[in-house]
Amino acid sequence: MTEYHPVTADVISDLAALLGGRNVSCDPDKLLSYSRDEVQGPFWQDGCLAEVVVFPEGTDHVAALARYANEKKIPLTARGAGTGLSGGAVPACRGIVVSFEKMNRIVELDRENLTITVEPGVITADINRAAAEAGLLYAGDPCSGDASYIGGNVAENAGGNKVVKYGPTGSHVLALEAVLADGSVTWFGGKRRKDVTGYDFVHLLVGSEGTLALITRIVLKLLPLPAEIVDLLVPFPDVATAVAFVPRIVTEGKVLPASVEFMDRRSINLTERFLNTRLPYSDAGAHLIIQLEGNDTESLADEYERIGDLCLAHGALEVFVADNRNSRDRLWKARKSITESVWAFHPGKNVNEDVVVPTAAVPELMRRLDEVASRLETSYVAFGHIGDGNMHVTVTPDRDLPERESLLHLVQDELYGIVKSLGGTLTGEHGVGLKRRDSIGLFLDGAQIDLIRRVKLAFDPNNILNPGKIVPWE
Ligand code: LAC
Ligand code: ZN
Repeated sequence: MTEYHPVTADVISDLAALLGGRNVSCDPDKLLSYSRDEVQGPFWQDGCLAEVVVFPEGTDHVAALARYANEKKIPLTARGAGTGLSGGAVPACRGIVVSFEKMNRIVELDRENLTITVEPGVITADINRAAAEAGLLYAGDPCSGDASYIGGNVAENAGGNKVVKYGPTGSHVLALEAVLADGSVTWFGGKRRKDVTGYDFVHLLVGSEGTLALITRIVLKLLPLPAEIVDLLVPFPDVATAVAFVPRIVTEGKVLPASVEFMDRRSINLTERFLNTRLPYSDAGAHLIIQLEGNDTESLADEYERIGDLCLAHGALEVFVADNRNSRDRLWKARKSITESVWAFHPGKNVNEDVVVPTAAVPELMRRLDEVASRLETSYVAFGHIGDGNMHVTVTPDRDLPERESLLHLVQDELYGIVKSLGGTLTGEHGVGLKRRDSIGLFLDGAQIDLIRRVKLAFDPNNILNPGKIVPWE
């Protein structure tokens, strides 16, 4: 195990000299709040606590910080808005937490090259808005987009609601300015759509959870902004009918929707209670949200009527069309609040997963989940990005069991076992982080885990960048 230098009073004054006193904090409340993300439940020790939090204002600050921490051997854990769901920003080996909240500028929107260049602390929704104001689309759309930072989205390769058509965050990233562990600054990639000059380091850094470099600028791809958007809310009598319908949208409807989201009855009921609202047919077994985009009102209407008829022909109870801002916002507010509503009604007692299976295996995943839940006398909430096989399964024990913690772990292990047997993977968009580190061996073989360690140490020989993450280190 790596031995690290503690953050002593001398280190604090060195950091203040490098970054300015206003950018260094040892306030105990801050140390605690900047050491947590939104994971609930017993997945790591309370000792994972920052010794100091710093707030760099630019690349030069980050470079000076890395140079210093590398020489001293002090851990540096990058942090965005703290909306993560895997403990990726939790300082597993203590040391310095690097908050990017002051690096929050949109640097440039380049209409000629269709790119937007941002600092890591920009809120994702602000990028969506800036692009839309220029008549363009930034297609990243994580559910936490109103709060999360783009740097965190890149670090975890966040997915969200539009992956089925546009891909996850990484498919929008063209270039990254990165500070390497020794403090050197380099650009990977550029404003270009093709590049096979050497290894694809851009997409190695995307999803690397702050373990390989500190990202200080991000160049994102922009696309045409569709003029019209329609969301169909489609209740089905049961989960199996809803899930079986999904591939027909493409095979028979001949449309690639922007979103295909799934909500089971419990998720709908929880979000309704949380928001004090009602969705139509909320006693239905499951709902799909199907989002279609276009530039022409009439042809989009033809398309949604065709998809709506197809839904009704395959067991849908009704098709509700949300084609104005109000109805669409209401619908998405309900969808995006599911996780928060689970937290509100089952505080600290849930296991929030983001497993992925091949899309054709989703029906079997749901069947097996039912079997585990009834055997273990527990319940689950299932919702998520069914169009790309990425299901959020949140397990909520029904009773206050003394062995709650081990029950949660057991459920998690059972779920992973099922996912593995269906050809799926551990996490589609929240990352491995600390929460799933010790489960990665179920999905990657020894050679791959060893390669992860060696790549990490090639970038970061002193193991200072977000140490203790992704794979077991001891
Ligand atoms: C969502 C978060 C949990 O899709 O990823 O709601
Ligand atoms: Zn999600």
